[in-house]
Amino acid sequence: MIKVDASPSGKYLDRAIEAFDVLYGRKGAGCDYTGWIDLPSAVHGPLPSECMSVVDRWRSMGVETVAVIGIGGSYLGAKAAIEALSHSFVRGAGRMHVVFAGFNLSEEYHAELMDYLESSSVAVVVISKSGTTTEPAVAFRIIKEFMERRYGRKGAAERIVAITDASKGALRAEAENEGYVTFVIPDNVGGRYSVLTPVGLLPVAAAGFDISALLSGAAAAAGQCGTRSADNPAVRYAAARNELYDAGKKVEILVTYNPKMQYFAEWWKQLFGESEGKDGKGLFPASAGFTTDLHSLGQYIQDGGRFIFETVLGASASGRDLVIGGSSDNLDGMGFLAGRHMEYCNRMAALATRIAHQDGGVPNLSVEFDRIDEYCLGELFYFFEAACGISAYMLGVNPFDQPGVEAYKKNMYALLGKPGYEKEGERLRALLHGKV
Ligand code: PA5
Repeated sequence: MIKVDASPSGKYLDRAIEAFDVLYGRKGAGCDYTGWIDLPSAVHGPLPSECMSVVDRWRSMGVETVAVIGIGGSYLGAKAAIEALSHSFVRGAGRMHVVFAGFNLSEEYHAELMDYLESSSVAVVVISKSGTTTEPAVAFRIIKEFMERRYGRKGAAERIVAITDASKGALRAEAENEGYVTFVIPDNVGGRYSVLTPVGLLPVAAAGFDISALLSGAAAAAGQCGTRSADNPAVRYAAARNELYDAGKKVEILVTYNPKMQYFAEWWKQLFGESEGKDGKGLFPASAGFTTDLHSLGQYIQDGGRFIFETVLGASASGRDLVIGGSSDNLDGMGFLAGRHMEYCNRMAALATRIAHQDGGVPNLSVEFDRIDEYCLGELFYFFEAACGISAYMLGVNPFDQPGVEAYKKNMYALLGKPGYEKEGERLRALLHGKV
């Protein structure tokens, strides 16, 4: 169960409930993209077993590595879940290794990925809702060529799955031409709200995790967050962060005390950044991993510009036991900790930091969940999506568009010489004094 520790004023709670009505009444800006509200009900439909049958087929073919190609909302949810659920150092026996591509344009990254794929039995999941995004399209060209060289055109087609729009976009056309298995990203679900569609579910299933439990957790959170109440955790969190924003806190740092949650924070940053940062408004979503970053960002947070608040995201239970041992000479002076769990130290560090930062003018909220497992991650995904929709409506922006992302794309197309962008290309080259 998700617990939010925040004390927004009655005025902001009332505003959050108004925004809740707009979101769940599906009457706000972008309401055509609120299909994610219903996605947890997929737990009762055929989707989990459709994903599992692809994974079982790959397993029977001896697939060792699944390359997932996508960017933004088309990869971050899966990456967040897999990083959180996986052992930090050892891949479980019999599990396929899920690697990611097409979320950057680095030649070195992709060349090294190709080195790795050379010595493995590979399947591919290519994900793009629009089917036209440059980064995954470029990566897919390279990986498709490799797959066809290695397995032949027909053999490659048996190992490639495309997840895209039902009818539009270049990827849909290519998938149909080549005879790939396809999954659909529903029209009414935007990229960053798509983790509970095949976009998140297929890669997570391929990594060997329980997607039915993920959906069950999301369904539980849908019950909690779909209730019109000031006790609804999504309402409380949205109210508190808007109140802090209006009081001059313009940056929210999502703090985790467990490196397994690092990519969850990346997913959260994308969700809130693309949903709220528009029309000259919005909290800047940042993240930090403590205690690590207390030795880098800690100084600034304690003592720098006073426009920050923190939201601490953590599990109430540790998944493991690790007890600090005794030492006869006690040279490090840590003997007072002998017999204590490492997690006890982590919790004391969190309490100490919370008090220090609050004393330094950095308010703290917290979001607590039970443990890191599929069920709780499902809860968290849904909770933050609901909170984000409510929060964006409180702010007065459309949570479901991302017009600002287009600016760099247009310039990049122009500089790369995409047909139709010739004039813009000339203008940019002049600006760059002919350096490209
Ligand atoms: O949230 C979003 O809509 C974006 O982050 C998209 O997911 C991202 O730009 C990738 O788009 P696409 O899936 O169309 O390739």
